[in-house]
Amino acid sequence: PRFGTVVAVDGPAAAGKTTTCLALAKTFGLRYLESGRTYRIIAFEALQREIPVDNAPEITGLCDELIEQSRSTSLLTSERYASAELRKKPVNVAVSAVARIADVRQRVTSLIRLWATTHEHCVVEGRDIGTAIFPRAAVKFYLTATPEVRAMRRVRQERAESYENVLEDVIRRDDADMSRKASPLVPAADAITIDTSELTVEQVLHRMSSTCRSRGLEINQ
Ligand code: CDP
Ligand code: CDP
Repeated sequence: PRFGTVVAVDGPAAAGKTTTCLALAKTFGLRYLESGRTYRIIAFEALQREIPVDNAPEITGLCDELIEQSRSTSLLTSERYASAELRKKPVNVAVSAVARIADVRQRVTSLIRLWATTHEHCVVEGRDIGTAIFPRAAVKFYLTATPEVRAMRRVRQERAESYENVLEDVIRRDDADMSRKASPLVPAADAITIDTSELTVEQVLHRMSSTCRSRGLEINQ
């Protein structure tokens, strides 16, 4: 398939992917896709239907059913699911188990690639965008920060759980995502890694935007 300009942004939880991608999308006129949302939808549905999240054949069947029910690639952006619902603790706990299933990843990968063929310029965030989904992306970023800083950001952002619980979730998800066999979370060889631990959002954005401009992306007037 032919893809236009793709900006790939990967990294662990609360590294700042969504915040910076939304800003880049606006600055450069890119369509934005949050790939983690799809894994969260599958995990959410599995919990609703009481399907064990480590049952690969059943979860793959569920994934096929959800894709079939939705038109074309619309599962990726489905508004049937409230973001707040998808970001609750049970989904946080279940999502990495769903995301380690190779057959599920393969289906989500196909959907994302199909989506990208319909948008000329896009920015996609996730865990395997620069490594597996778009290995030839025009620009690849790997955002990271210490687990403690990231947990603190999530606590501020969601004003929900205790710091200890959030830190535990962040570390557990990092471990699961980094150690799985199928497209684990790892920086692509040609990714620009930014440790955002001691940077403001503006500083991170400044670096990302400069890189995008130097790679030929044009500011959206
Ligand atoms: O927002 P946050 O970084 O906390 O999570 P997310 O981007 O919504 O992703 C949730 C989970 O989906 C991750 O912990 C991964 O297990 C999985 N995921 C993945 O495996 N591959 C992607 N491209 C995106 C998400
Ligand atoms: O998408 P991801 O899970 O990587 O992170 P996010 O949802 O963008 O959340 C990051 C949170 O940390 C947001 O509330 C940001 O305002 C904040 N933050 C950041 O993203 N980058 C910094 N350098 C500092 C703070």
